[in-house]
Amino acid sequence: MFSNSLIELDRAHLVHPVASYRGHEQQGVRVLASAKGATVTDAQGRQLVDGFAGLWCVNAGYGHDSIVEAATRQMRELPYATAYFGLGSEPAIRLAAELAERAPGDLDHVYFTLGGSDAVDSTIRFIRYYWIARGQPQRDQFISIEQGYHGSSTVGAGLTALPNFHAGFGIPFEWQHKIPSPYPYRNPAGEDPQAIIAASLAALKEKVEAIGADRVAAFYAEPIQGSGGVIVPPKGWMKAMRNLCRDYGILFVADEVITGFGRTGPLFACTEDDIVPDFMTTAKGLTSGYVPMGAVFMADHVYQVIADGAGASAVGHGYTYSAHPVSAAVGLEVLKLYEGGLLENGVRAGARLMAGLESLKAHPLVGDVRGRGMLAAIELVTDKAAKTPLSADAAPARRIFDRAWNNGLIIRAFANGVLGYAPPLCCSDADIDAIIERTAKTLDQTLEDPDVRRTVRG
Ligand SMILES: Cc1ncc(COP(=O)(O)O)c(C=O)c1O
Repeated sequence: MFSNSLIELDRAHLVHPVASYRGHEQQGVRVLASAKGATVTDAQGRQLVDGFAGLWCVNAGYGHDSIVEAATRQMRELPYATAYFGLGSEPAIRLAAELAERAPGDLDHVYFTLGGSDAVDSTIRFIRYYWIARGQPQRDQFISIEQGYHGSSTVGAGLTALPNFHAGFGIPFEWQHKIPSPYPYRNPAGEDPQAIIAASLAALKEKVEAIGADRVAAFYAEPIQGSGGVIVPPKGWMKAMRNLCRDYGILFVADEVITGFGRTGPLFACTEDDIVPDFMTTAKGLTSGYVPMGAVFMADHVYQVIADGAGASAVGHGYTYSAHPVSAAVGLEVLKLYEGGLLENGVRAGARLMAGLESLKAHPLVGDVRGRGMLAAIELVTDKAAKTPLSADAAPARRIFDRAWNNGLIIRAFANGVLGYAPPLCCSDADIDAIIERTAKTLDQTLEDPDVRRTVRG
């Protein structure tokens, strides 16, 4: 009764992100009611292992009382403080300092946003401002990567390179350019890491030369392409791309909205990649999804140019909720939890997750297994030699998501038959084993579908 009325209210009033509105009206919402650790419970009382940490964000896991207490304390003392007019609050100042201390290199300055999309959007504004302040206003062209995701703001969605985010919205803009993804499983250069790196460097050079080296403002890359299908570039790829951008004098933005805060192991994937970007965007794990917050890390050399360029004038970029004290208090507590054992547990659980997924490689539907830490994917195919994707008619996103759900597992099922995994870092061995067992069951059931069975070779 309760749940049915919620379904009707949702159908009538709640517009869902990235959904077929008509499809959703038909399907109806699935209401989540509570969660603890890596387990969520729906309104019917069904328990599921959350193999995707919400939307790759609840890195700490659900139900940490210390996070709830930190937020409650801050709400009682000071629920809001603007950072406009030279005002501030202790948690936001402390969080900025703690983050700067841990960030790679000279990423010493932190601008807080509400999430990842407005973090990316803010970098575009800062970068334009930077080049104008440096007397090079013609540097107004931006390059990103096919299958990349950089959020859903009006301009940021044009850096995103997923067709769904463009169709019907009149983007990308003509100043937003793309180069091919390094995608090792399907790279025309083959799977050899050095060949993939060489191909990406050549593509970036060609693009920069075509645009005009003095026109390019910035290049955006995710250390691992998340929403494009958990595409893991070869080791050394980020560093090679970063160095090429430095050679050209192009600003390099590492979008760590997914990879930040322990998702791949360390606090920031950039440290593993041994690079210092000019900007780093983060969100999600920053507050572990308990409250909204994102953060733009800005290199000192960039900050100084913007500060000198503005002089006594205000840099006209800000949000009412920039540096929100409750979000910052949560961020500080979450950081404590990461460093108090969660990062370590994530590394251990990540190794178990990868080993478990590797063990599924012999399954007739599994073409590729990839990942780093607690960020992984398997790519389903119907012909391993030809790497033939599941037919779109098989609607793998809906079918496999629903089937996994019925088996007590939440995963990300992409439309092209890639299954994404990003469990909370708090996962126990039993949680990871449940993810693997329930995936195996889901794959076996899918293999028995007559339309899939018919197309499988080998
Ligand atoms: C790499 C990357 N950048 C930006 C975003 C946008 O973040 P948000 O959804 O918090 O606006 C995401 C979201 O998944 C992301 O994965």
